[in-house]
Amino acid sequence: MTKGNEPTKADFVVVANRLPVDLERMEDGTQRWKHSPGGLVTALEPFLRARHGAWVGWPGVADVEVDPFADGDMWLHPVRLSAAEFREYYEGFSNATLWPLYHDVVVPPVFDRSWWDTYQRVNQRFAEAAAEVSAEGATVWIQDYQLQLVPAMLRELRPDLRIGFFLHIPFPPVELFMQLPWRTEIVRGLLGADLVGFHRPGGAQNFMWLARRLAGFEPSRAQVGVRSRPGVVQVGDRAVRVGAFPISIASGELDQLARTKEVQQRAKAIRAELGNPRRIMLGVDRLDYTKGIDVRLNAMYELLSEGHATVEDVAMIQVATPSRERVEHYKQMREDIERKVGSINGEFGRVGHPAVHYLHTSVDRKDLIAFYCAADVMIVTPVRDGMNLVCKEYVACRGDLGGSLVLSEFAGAAAELTSALLVNPHDLDGVKDTMLAALNLDQAEGRRRMRALRRQVLTHDVDRWARSFLEALGASPTS
Ligand code: ADP
Ligand code: F6P
Repeated sequence: MTKGNEPTKADFVVVANRLPVDLERMEDGTQRWKHSPGGLVTALEPFLRARHGAWVGWPGVADVEVDPFADGDMWLHPVRLSAAEFREYYEGFSNATLWPLYHDVVVPPVFDRSWWDTYQRVNQRFAEAAAEVSAEGATVWIQDYQLQLVPAMLRELRPDLRIGFFLHIPFPPVELFMQLPWRTEIVRGLLGADLVGFHRPGGAQNFMWLARRLAGFEPSRAQVGVRSRPGVVQVGDRAVRVGAFPISIASGELDQLARTKEVQQRAKAIRAELGNPRRIMLGVDRLDYTKGIDVRLNAMYELLSEGHATVEDVAMIQVATPSRERVEHYKQMREDIERKVGSINGEFGRVGHPAVHYLHTSVDRKDLIAFYCAADVMIVTPVRDGMNLVCKEYVACRGDLGGSLVLSEFAGAAAELTSALLVNPHDLDGVKDTMLAALNLDQAEGRRRMRALRRQVLTHDVDRWARSFLEALGASPTS
């Protein structure tokens, strides 16, 4: 990462809670930047680099002051958070209030007034930073649930800007959203944008209903389409468009990487290190209670205990990136998962053959692709997920048409990846039977499914997502 000259004002600005890189403090007191976790960065980083834009975000560590700097072709503008703001805005309101509320109340959301105060204050700071770096008439694209007040705050500061907002997580059913004590403020905050985007038409529809119910604005009545027919909410003299834009990945690039000799050899080596089992099952997730890691472990336990699988025959790998580690429900879930892994391994593992290979770490890109190439069955079982990019990455990496995908119906991706083996993650028998079917899937059937999945993923990549959003925003997708 190079430190460049003075930053100039940008015509295209992304505003997200995190920068695409996190500052890491090493034990010896030195610092380094590392890639930030999560689907938002995976999706947006390649796009912004190609456009030489600016990215406003938090550097991933509290209480540090970092000057703007150039990272290759893009400018990064760090926003400072104090330790108390990190606790109340990020861990608190974003991840213990909004995250569970928007994910179907999988765990109970906490409604804390001081967290809300801090959320407003931090959103104001992001809005000011965005106003500062944007050129006259620039396009500013605000991302995700941590920054839902920024559109209106930024419009107040800079009415000349074209403002888009995209929500990367599910937008909840209205009866759940209505629990939020600050529901009207959030809806009004989002309506500051010219275009509000969701993954699915249902989210857009829910939001428009709330715009009328809570803010008294009249929305259009026609059904919102996917990447087409956005709805409109008339806010004074502004027409705010509301649409559905399912996010994706740089699928062509992954496809190419997966075909390289280096990755193929690494995939072979992974199989060999596991003792060349007949089947490898893989899970790759942020360690989050929405991802349904427990669901697949429970299903694996039953497959082993009922004799449908043995540890010599089937190796299960679970790679789990550490995430939000101080938030109570995350701590609890990590303990539960690790206890479960321990007990499955204790009961079924043999020397050299643990039942579950559990890696609590982030792996680098090429290794991840090699894992995808090595895996016969990819297990993606969230109880709720806005989209889920992992399943799309797996498909993009399987140019050999090998492998099968077990996918939760409750991931946004299920609407597009209809040739996957779809499961209800709440139905343990269903998950178990489908995992077993995937392990024994007829090769021709597997290839047929994978071909259809790849057609979808390769023709609907992240570039198409960003272009369709920016076209609907009325911003040139290339400038
Ligand atoms: P979320 O945004 O909720 O984390 P997604 O599935 O949309 O979920 O995106 C996750 C992104 O993070 C993907 O690009 C995936 O490759 C990456 N990722 C997840 N787990 C790991 C891991 N253990 N190591 C490296 N990358 C990971
Ligand atoms: O995709 C949802 C999301 O919360 C992103 O906003 C975020 O960058 C990613 O997951 C990882 O989460 P966090 O930034 O809290 O580590």
